[in-house]
Amino acid sequence: MEQESRQINFAFIGFGHVGRAFARLLIDRRKWLLKEYGIEWKVTGIATKSHGTAIDSQGLPVKKILSSWKRHSNIDNFHNGPACSSPTDFIRQCGADVLFEMSVLDLSGEPAATYIREALGAGLHVITTNKGPVATHFRQLTGLARLRGVRFLYEGTVMDGAPVFNMLRQTLPATRIRSLRGILNSTTNHILTQMEQGTPFEAALDYARDAGIAEADPSLDLDGWDSAAKLSILIQAMMGGRVKPKDIERSSITEETGRIVRAAIRRERRLRLVARAYRQGGRVIGKVELQELEVFDPLAAIRGLSNILIINTDTMRELAIVENNPSVDQTAFGLFSDLISLLR
Ligand SMILES: NC(=O)c1ccc[n+]([C@@H]2O[C@H](COP(=O)([O-])OP(=O)(O)OC[C@H]3O[C@@H](n4cnc5c(N)ncnc54)[C@H](OP(=O)(O)O)[C@@H]3O)[C@@H](O)[C@H]2O)c1
Repeated sequence: MEQESRQINFAFIGFGHVGRAFARLLIDRRKWLLKEYGIEWKVTGIATKSHGTAIDSQGLPVKKILSSWKRHSNIDNFHNGPACSSPTDFIRQCGADVLFEMSVLDLSGEPAATYIREALGAGLHVITTNKGPVATHFRQLTGLARLRGVRFLYEGTVMDGAPVFNMLRQTLPATRIRSLRGILNSTTNHILTQMEQGTPFEAALDYARDAGIAEADPSLDLDGWDSAAKLSILIQAMMGGRVKPKDIERSSITEETGRIVRAAIRRERRLRLVARAYRQGGRVIGKVELQELEVFDPLAAIRGLSNILIINTDTMRELAIVENNPSVDQTAFGLFSDLISLLR
C-alpha cells in the first residue's frame, strides 16, 4: 500500500558552508525521504547576517539560490511574504516546523540562543550545528524543548555527522559514561600533524580556512575554545555534569608549538590537543591540554582533520568513534541524521 505523504516545512538561520551543504544534501535525498518516510519538504525561510533574508510560504527555490550563490549574493529578492525586520520576526513568520540553526560560533551562545529559545517557545523543533548556544545554555534549552514537547537536537556540534549523541540514545541503553577523551578540533589537529612534517604554522592554518573547517574567528580553534565548547556539550549531554566552556582549562596552539612538536617527534612521541573529562568527588572535570603521547596511543594515530572520541562506559568498557578527514558534507549529514531521528 502507498504510504500517504506529509508536508514538512524547514527554515534555516545561517546559509554558509554548512547551510548550503545541508541544502544540497536535502535536495539529493528528496526521493529517499519521500520513499522511506513519506516526507515532502520545502524550505519556507532562510535568514543570514549580510546575505539577506527570504520567506516564501510556497517554498523558496533552493536549487536556484544554490546555483546562483556568490560571495556577495543577496537573497532578499526571493522574499515573498510579510515584512520581516528582525530574526525574531523571521522565526515567527517563516511558517516552519523545524528550524535549522547554523549561524556562527560565539561562546556567549548569543544571538543563536535567543533564536533557539524563540523557536522552541513557538513550538518549532530545532536542530543545530552551533556549539555556542548548546554549550552555554544547555539546561535552559533542553528544559524548554521538553516543556514545549518539541525536539532540540545537536548531533553536528561535536563530531560533525559521526554518531555520538544518537549512538548513546539509540544503542547504549542504561549506560553510564565514566570518562572520555578525544581529539575534537580538526583545525588544530591538522596544524599539529602538518608541523610534524615541517609545514609552517600559517600555511597549515590557511589550508583549514580554505577547506571551510576553521571557525570564522580562528582564535576559537587555536586557543582551545572550540574543543572546550564540544567537551562541555559532551559533559552536559552524556555525563550529567554542569561544566561550561569557561570552566574548562585550555592550552593554546601557536607558531611556537612547532618547536615542541618537533622535540616530541625526536623522542618518538606525538603532540596532540587532547580533550578529556572524568568524574571526581561527585563532579565532572573537563580539560583541553596539549599532551605528548606514546605513538601506540590511538589518539597519536589521528592525523590531519580527523577526530576521535573514546568513551569509557560501565556496560561496553571502552568504545572509540573515529571520523576520518571530515568535510562540511559530514556536518550536513549530522543535521540530516538529527532530522531522521525527529521523523522516527
Ligand atoms: N564548517 C564546519 O565544518 C562546521 C562543523 C561543525 C560545526 N560547525 C558550526 O556550524 C555553524 C555554521 O558554520 P559555517 O561553516 O557554515 O559558518 P559560515 O560559513 O561562516 O556561515 C555562517 C552563516 O551564519 C550567518 N550568520 C552569522 N551571524 C548571524 C546572525 N547573527 N543571524 C543570522 N545569521 C547569521 C552568516 O550570514 P552571512 O552569510 O551573511 O555572513 C552565514 O550565512 C557554526 O556555528 C560552526 O561552528 C561548522
